[in-house]
Amino acid sequence: MEGRVDQYAVVGHPVAHSLSPFIHSLFARQTGQSLSYRLMDVAPERFVERVGEFFAGGGRGVNITLPHKTRAMALASELTERARLAGAVNTLAARRDGTLLGDNTDGAGLVQDLTGNIGMTVKKRNVLLIGAGGAARGVIAPLLALAPRRIVVANRTAERAVALAAVFAGLGAVEGCGFADLGGESFDLIINATSASLTGELPAVPATAFGRDTFCYDMAYGRGDTPFVRWACELGCREAVPGWGMLVEQAAESFRLWRGVRPLTAPVLAALTGRSAPATGRTG
Ligand code: ATR
Repeated sequence: MEGRVDQYAVVGHPVAHSLSPFIHSLFARQTGQSLSYRLMDVAPERFVERVGEFFAGGGRGVNITLPHKTRAMALASELTERARLAGAVNTLAARRDGTLLGDNTDGAGLVQDLTGNIGMTVKKRNVLLIGAGGAARGVIAPLLALAPRRIVVANRTAERAVALAAVFAGLGAVEGCGFADLGGESFDLIINATSASLTGELPAVPATAFGRDTFCYDMAYGRGDTPFVRWACELGCREAVPGWGMLVEQAAESFRLWRGVRPLTAPVLAALTGRSAPATGRTG
């Protein structure tokens, strides 16, 4: 429709607490782009129909969040390699011919936060990835691309970790195990990709995994420190951070796919964490 600004949305269920509209409105203002970005709460059984309607009505792109990320793969006529490896889509973009490209920017968001914002070197480091659900799956290939010494995927349900590691075995040194199999070794980098922080729980990883030089990253974020960040600090590790940076960086990657320009993330990250009551959530 002529004169109407380009339409974007985040589709989830529930989605009311999503910070994506706030983040993308700041990106749009900063880059001088004229667009609208709204929340779409869509139940799983109506997902295909509602997203189809959105694009049929001229919508340019959507972000996909829980519980739709796997379902969204079927809507894309083409998937990026990273979406295929992640087994999930968090970004759909309308192309000129009306078809949809499916991408996944979560892993790139984590890597950009770790290496760009935090300045962490992952090459030749021992990485422990806790969790074996969709969030963990989305970050394994991008982490392996940084050439760590190895990634150990540890999960409460050991078989899920073993199966997940097997999917990525061709891309680098990755192995799966249960928490009890971790032994006494400490890691250079520990990433919490479980949903435990969202319910105030902690994964039962042995304290020996956390050394004095360990850097800990929680993919979850919330007001103040997450339970995992607090716990890692109590265990005496070097530093532990929540996943605000990943949230903003994955959004910046989506924005770039849609608009062809990558916004600066630092001011948006500052605006988010400076808010008086940031929502609790997790990227991936
Ligand atoms: P997603 O990664 O998208 O949240 P999920 O399949 O719901 O997808 O996975 C949640 C992850 O958090 C799993 O790795 C789960 O462990 P299990 O596979 O054993 O269920 C993990 N998780 C959730 N609560 C946890 C807790 N209290 N302690 C340890 N791991 C937990």
